[in-house]
Amino acid sequence: MSSVKVGLLGLGTVGAGTVNLLARNRDEIARRAGREIDIVHAATRHPDRPRACSTEHFRLTSDPFAVVDDPAVEIVVELIGGEGLARELVLRAIDNGKHVVTANKALIASHGNEIFEHARRQGVTVAFEAAVAGGIPIIKAIREGLSANRIEWLAGIINGTSNYILSEMFYQQRDFADVLAEAQGLGYAEADPTFDVEGVDAAHKLTILASIAFGIPLQFDKVHVEGITQIGSEDIAYAKELGYRIKLLGIARRVVGKGISLRVHPTLVPQRRLLANVDGVMNAVMVHGDPVGSTVYYGPGAGAGPTASAVVADLIDVTREINTDPKHRVPFLAFQSHALSDEPVLGVEEIETRYYLRMDAQDTPGVLADVTRILGDNGISIEAILQKQPPPGADHVPVIILTHEVSERRMNAAMAQIEALPTIQGRLTRIRVEHLD
Ligand SMILES: NC(=O)c1ccc[n+]([C@@H]2O[C@H](COP(=O)([O-])OP(=O)(O)OC[C@H]3O[C@@H](n4cnc5c(N)ncnc54)[C@H](OP(=O)(O)O)[C@@H]3O)[C@@H](O)[C@H]2O)c1
Repeated sequence: MSSVKVGLLGLGTVGAGTVNLLARNRDEIARRAGREIDIVHAATRHPDRPRACSTEHFRLTSDPFAVVDDPAVEIVVELIGGEGLARELVLRAIDNGKHVVTANKALIASHGNEIFEHARRQGVTVAFEAAVAGGIPIIKAIREGLSANRIEWLAGIINGTSNYILSEMFYQQRDFADVLAEAQGLGYAEADPTFDVEGVDAAHKLTILASIAFGIPLQFDKVHVEGITQIGSEDIAYAKELGYRIKLLGIARRVVGKGISLRVHPTLVPQRRLLANVDGVMNAVMVHGDPVGSTVYYGPGAGAGPTASAVVADLIDVTREINTDPKHRVPFLAFQSHALSDEPVLGVEEIETRYYLRMDAQDTPGVLADVTRILGDNGISIEAILQKQPPPGADHVPVIILTHEVSERRMNAAMAQIEALPTIQGRLTRIRVEHLD
């Protein structure tokens, strides 16, 4: 049988990794796919620049539309990134009757509903394993391996850059800005790290995971997003003292009788949990299903090799499915398209969780009594209180409170009242706590 012909958009980190992997494991891949997989046409903005892969076996152009319009190409692999041009190219490829593989989480999270609709009309497939958690086959695990389960919740460390920064802050007792600068030097963080440290990249991935877990349309705009820029090294130290690690988690959870909560934020995780011990740039996703219980998937979430591993696995899947009736293929979002649910995504004020609060309180009698009275008046019970020594020369002491579970709405009301006390200086730091059980 003739080989499958692939058009490649982008020859950067993942694009070059994909070319190298297809060459390195060519025989193994063909034995699995049933056909050889050949890149025949590729586009890159600067075709004359040296590449981390050989470019001698395919045509190379600076015009990505030449690739998606090439009649010889059966599968287009989009590895350019971004949303504007990538969306245009993917829709055009689909309208040209080509299958698509992409690693682009921003594209799928924001435009996936539209892209899948086009693909269904055209009877082609769109595969996006590499868009979430790089080398960890988490989409396949949830979409296929756990397809008998009712997923109750999932929680993931799905941004390697922020996990690296939090890990360094924990182990080296260093500040956020200091570690970020180093991460940029090492290539773990982009020159513009906003998407990583502000939680946007994790929110893109959570959007995709939640749709596959719960069978809901992609709703990136409904994810509550907070990044790690406000986390101080003192919070990491106090959390440790209380038996927790601070991790940037993406959390998707069914709230019985209400809807689905989708959020990305720094989270205190008990030290004994596997997720608390995922360090450096590694990723991990914990999925809790009925009846399976909790399962955890761990591995490298980025980089040329791991991401190419997912891209090529998708290429193999598409090659196997190319002649399958579209009705018999695995649905893009795990559930049949007509069976997607309109269960509402809840606002963050609807959630109920435990909280870590840190405040600077005047070092005088009665202050703590005022704070605990306000919490009590709002129906918030306290699990632990830490009062630290004032820093040298300061007249305010850090007070840390861990609460039991309470609604975010009540917590907001209590925090506003505490911040209004004349004995409390500045704003409170609030970090949500998840026990993941
Ligand atoms: N890097 C990772 O570890 C990783 C992990 C998971 C997912 N992803 C996703 O994979 C995708 C690619 O990421 P990457 O890290 O490989 O990016 P990258 O290294 O910046 O590579 C992007 C490639 O796209 C090409 N390109 C950009 N605009 C173009 C245009 N108008 N026409 C033709 N080519 C164009 C660039 O060409 P030039 O090289 O000539 O400039 C470059 O080869 C992104 O969606 C990213 O989110 C990446």
